[in-house]
Amino acid sequence: MSESRSEKNWWHSATVYQIYPRSFFDSNGDGIGDLRGITLHLDYLKKLGIGLIWLSPIFKSPMDDNGYDISDYQDIAAEFGTLRDFEELLEEARKRDIGILLDLVVNHTSDEHPWFMEARKSEDNPFRNFYIWRDPDQDGGPPNSLQSSFGGPAWSYEPATGQYYFHQFSRRQPDLNWDNPEVRCEIYNMMNWWLDKGIAGFRMDVIDRIAKEVDSEITADGPRLHEYLQEMHRETLAERNVLTVGEAWSATPGSALLYCGEDRNELSMVFQFEHVTQQWDQLYGKWRSKPFDLVALKSVLGKWQHALANDGWNSLFWGNHDLPRVVSNYGDTAGYHRESATMLATALHLLKGTPFIYQGEEIGMTNAVFQRIEQYRDVETLNMHRLHIEAGLSVEEFIAGANRNSRDNARTPMQWNSAPHGGFTTGTPWIESNPNYPQINVNQNLRDDRSIWNHYRRLIALRKSEPVIVYGTYQGYFDQHPNLYVYTRTLGTRRVVIIANFTAESVTFTVPNELRGRGRCLISNYENIKELESGVTMRPFEAFAVLQQIERSSSC
Ligand code: GLC
Ligand code: CA
Repeated sequence: MSESRSEKNWWHSATVYQIYPRSFFDSNGDGIGDLRGITLHLDYLKKLGIGLIWLSPIFKSPMDDNGYDISDYQDIAAEFGTLRDFEELLEEARKRDIGILLDLVVNHTSDEHPWFMEARKSEDNPFRNFYIWRDPDQDGGPPNSLQSSFGGPAWSYEPATGQYYFHQFSRRQPDLNWDNPEVRCEIYNMMNWWLDKGIAGFRMDVIDRIAKEVDSEITADGPRLHEYLQEMHRETLAERNVLTVGEAWSATPGSALLYCGEDRNELSMVFQFEHVTQQWDQLYGKWRSKPFDLVALKSVLGKWQHALANDGWNSLFWGNHDLPRVVSNYGDTAGYHRESATMLATALHLLKGTPFIYQGEEIGMTNAVFQRIEQYRDVETLNMHRLHIEAGLSVEEFIAGANRNSRDNARTPMQWNSAPHGGFTTGTPWIESNPNYPQINVNQNLRDDRSIWNHYRRLIALRKSEPVIVYGTYQGYFDQHPNLYVYTRTLGTRRVVIIANFTAESVTFTVPNELRGRGRCLISNYENIKELESGVTMRPFEAFAVLQQIERSSSC
């Protein structure tokens, strides 16, 4: 079965690199990253070995949520460039065998989208039904208690017509009404327009939230969700060999298969977030996170590896533009920056699935260290700051939470070199650079063979050269071990054993009998590799993978 999948899905052995255009490279000195800035760095990405770029939104937008609020789906934001610049980027990427995934943000538009500007005018406007409107509650307040993900009610009052409109994110991001077939038709046409230009697919923003039923307070995973995704597939994706990944915070192992099971005709894979949310506080969510718990993390990762072992496909990621920097979140930036960043990369990239690297992760960029709320730019952080302070959280506690989990942690400018602002811009960046750019930057990484960047490059290459990494069966060991993550991947007579120490302590463990034996080291973040004999001592944040030749296992 894996053979037939491998022929069909060219992207199974590829690694995706996410670019947050605003913060990647500013080519004209206005302080904002742009499309030309990306085109200028395609050779850098080619050298890293990635096969696809996911571009966070580049479309016309008032930038209330940095482009996740689109006012024209078929034009480029002026600060990022022009359609011509996009076509040049696409063409230059194609020459280098790199595909481009666009961010499809169709749960909502901007309030400046012409559809919404029309819709809000009157109840009988032809575009009224593109959005979701309800009369006020008896007391004049919102129709029900649904809350926005960015804080406060999910309903805003529109004085012109005396009704409320629904928005799951900021009030400037009104939700589209997917129950209206005209809306769906417009979206499919737009998708086909981009696909016809030759893009490699889409990352689909909060796709689990499109089919809401607001009166019964269902927002995620609504009853008609899969009907819409199958229709979308028929109308846009079916005859094209593209990759689609849906952002689905609500996904469980069971529901994930509904999106990406082989006979479902919906998406290639989803981003699920269980490994992220298991770290959060019940009450304050990410604004007050729990201490890191490796046993819990392994249990979640293992559960997903098993759930999608024979059908569907996993996405693999530690970070993105909404999440903290991986090395700050799970690693040790002070004592073992290189070791922990490379260990984390190893532990993730040798799992089964498609790895996604978030820009800057490959050089070990760290969380921002903003101490004042004025340094933050993110609409969610600013809203939550106001609401949590009003509700009694202290400023210090909020800033501590933001230092760990604000989305701005991942949005500081890419650190290219030790020039001012890390070489990101010759002007003033839209958000402050992390002051550690003289130490952590691309140039320094490229010069050092043992750098984090070179480790990522090796991992990406391994996925292309070793089918066992792409298709091998996963098995976890030492589930309860508080320091080590140990797993194997097996395909036919080849087995890879992966051992990662998630802590700054040296840890000795006894190699299980069945894993003992000689092998070839595929990758390691330390020198002097040992054989898997009776006892092995793992140094702080050490990680390595050994390829062994075994008797053909009965299961395959
Ligand atoms: C997704 C995006 C996030 C955005 C939100 C609303 O979660 O990743 O950045 O704010 O959707 O579009
Ligand atoms: Ca610019």
